[in-house]
Amino acid sequence: MSFDRKIKIAPSILSADFADFGREIRAVEDQGADWVHVDVMDGHFVPNITFGPPAVAAFRKHVTTVMDVHLMIAPVDPYIEAFARAGADIITAHVEAGPHIHRTLQAIRGTGARAGVALNPGTPADAVEHLLDLADLICVMTVNPGFGGQRFIDMTAKVRRLRQMIGDRPVHIEIDGGVDPSTAPQLAAAGADVLVAGSAVFRGGSVSNSAPYGDNIRAIRAAAQAAVA
Ligand code: DX5
Ligand code: ZN
Repeated sequence: MSFDRKIKIAPSILSADFADFGREIRAVEDQGADWVHVDVMDGHFVPNITFGPPAVAAFRKHVTTVMDVHLMIAPVDPYIEAFARAGADIITAHVEAGPHIHRTLQAIRGTGARAGVALNPGTPADAVEHLLDLADLICVMTVNPGFGGQRFIDMTAKVRRLRQMIGDRPVHIEIDGGVDPSTAPQLAAAGADVLVAGSAVFRGGSVSNSAPYGDNIRAIRAAAQAAVA
C-alpha cells in the first residue's frame, strides 16, 4: 500500500445488503471503489451493533483493494490483534474510546497494519497533535458515529487545521459521514483525500444492478477532484 494524496472513494458496506456482503464488495470494487470501509460497532461506544472479527475475516476474501476497518468500540486494545488477523489493512480507533490512544496506535502498528485515529465531531483537531508520527490516517467524523444516512456536520475548518498540522507527513485525512457530491468538494479543497460514503454510493443500485454504484462513485470523485484541481 503506497502513499498518495489522490482522492480515494471508500464505500462503507454499512449501506450494503447484509445478506450478500461478498457480492456487494465485489460490485463496488468493479464499479471503481479505491478502498472498502468496514464499520465495526459494539452497542456501547456507539448505539448500534454491526460485526466482529469473524465477519471481517470473511469480507477479506472478497476485498482486492484496501480493507479499511473503522472500530467504533470501547475498549479497543483487547480486539486489535483479532482485527489484524482478520486481514485489516488499516485499523482506525477513536480518540474518545479510551485513555490510551497513543498505546493503541502503537499496538495497531505492532501488528503490521496501518494505524488510523478517528475524531468525533465534538473533538478538536488538537487531540491528535502528539499522535501525528504514530498515525497513517486521521478520520474526521462528519456525523456522530453509529448509523449511515445521517445529516452531514460541517468539519471543514477542522480538516484545514489538520492538513496544516500534518505538513509533509504521509498521513491521510479521511472523511466519514454524509459525504456526497455536494459535501465532498469543500472537504477535498480543505485537504481530505479519503472520502467514505455509504448511502451516497449504494443508493439506487443492488448487486444485480450495480451500475448506479459506479455512477455514484464517479459523481463523488468528480466533485472532489474539481475542487482540488
Ligand atoms: C457512521 C459510519 C460511516 C457511515 C457513513 O458511524 O462510520 O462509515 O457508514 O454512512 P453515510 O455515508 O451514509 O453517512
Ligand atoms: Zn466509518
